[in-house]
Amino acid sequence: MKTLLVTGGAGFIGSNFVHYVVENTDAHVTVLDKLTYAGNRASLDGVPKERLGFVHGDIADPAVVNSLVADADAVVHFAAESHNDNSLQDPRPFLDTNIMGTYTLLEAVRRHDKRFHHISTDEVYGDLELDDPQRFTESTPYNPSSPYSSTKAGSDLLVRAWVRSFGVQATISNCSNNYGPYQHVEKFIPRQITNVIDGIRPKLYGAGENVRDWIHANDHSSAVLTILERGQIGETYLIGADGEKNNKDVVELILTTMGEPAAGYDHVLDRPGHDLRYAIDSTRLRTELGWTPKFSDFESGLASTVEWYRNNEAWWRPQKAATEAKYVTQGQ
Ligand code: NAD
Ligand code: DAU
Repeated sequence: MKTLLVTGGAGFIGSNFVHYVVENTDAHVTVLDKLTYAGNRASLDGVPKERLGFVHGDIADPAVVNSLVADADAVVHFAAESHNDNSLQDPRPFLDTNIMGTYTLLEAVRRHDKRFHHISTDEVYGDLELDDPQRFTESTPYNPSSPYSSTKAGSDLLVRAWVRSFGVQATISNCSNNYGPYQHVEKFIPRQITNVIDGIRPKLYGAGENVRDWIHANDHSSAVLTILERGQIGETYLIGADGEKNNKDVVELILTTMGEPAAGYDHVLDRPGHDLRYAIDSTRLRTELGWTPKFSDFESGLASTVEWYRNNEAWWRPQKAATEAKYVTQGQ
């Protein structure tokens, strides 16, 4: 693959993937990104100019998408409205981008017969009880809870239909919660790290018993590249790194890592419809494609993430006050 079109490449995981591809392959990358509140051109700083093209545009715009897809060898589709809390306040942009944007890309890859990889989430499977011995697998039935996860589930089903009905050469991956540098301060881990830096007590939704299955964004990128290179067309792969932790433990670890007392946080209003637990069984990706995660130690991955936010205040500071003000109006 000489030229990759990466949608949402100025976002958290998309930018990590662009850095990863440039460091580990010879591919040229063109990023298509609308630069919503969640996109930041500075997340791509350091990528050599000759390896990167940047197009500021909307994945739901057929004219832009059509010409970029025509010029690419493959498309990796990260662009999305990604935050559950926002989807509960205003679902419309989630339908426009996650459903109509994915549809627009599918029609373009169908027209130009290009390889397509669709990035999705474990949230399409709904949630698990805390004591359920089962984890999500590729055959778990879809059961999304929020406007965000229902639009991601819808986009996955569109991809499957375009594979079956039109022979589009697509793969899908569903990954668990990512952490690492360049994540927007609205998300759980960066919100609490930057709160501690600002002298604000971290905010835990409800009792904090909800479990997320954490994976470093670099491991997500290596898995996506593996699927792009060796995945079987028409198949779905779950991506996870056996990183289950409840939110209370994560908040306490952030506080102690940052030299604060473990109990120095507040309980705030719970998220409506809050999914209890996600857990990924990534056996298929590991056994069929030989992928393994490198960041197996969450504590040291988290410590490096804390250091990144301490050292890159210029990157996150412009978003912080407005993000916290919005949470305060929501009682969170
Ligand atoms: P993000 O919100 O940080 O980034 C999204 C990017 O998409 C931004 O750069 C934004 O400007 C861009 N974008 C939004 N709407 C667009 C549009 N209409 N046209 C073009 N660009 C647009 O999101 P993220 O956390 O990096 O997530 C990336 C992908 O990974 C999403 O598809 C998400 O569903 C999926 N995912 C995320 C996680 C996670 O933990 N963050 C886990 C599993 C899957
Ligand atoms: O599982 C994959 C999903 O992970 C992705 O598809 C989403 O794009 C991504 O945003 C993430 O969704 P979550 O809703 O799990 O992530 P979030 O960072 O919003 O919250 C993580 C957990 O922390 C969740 O249980 C809610 C809780 N939380 C969140 C915030 C912002 C808090 O307790 N306090 C907070 O301030």
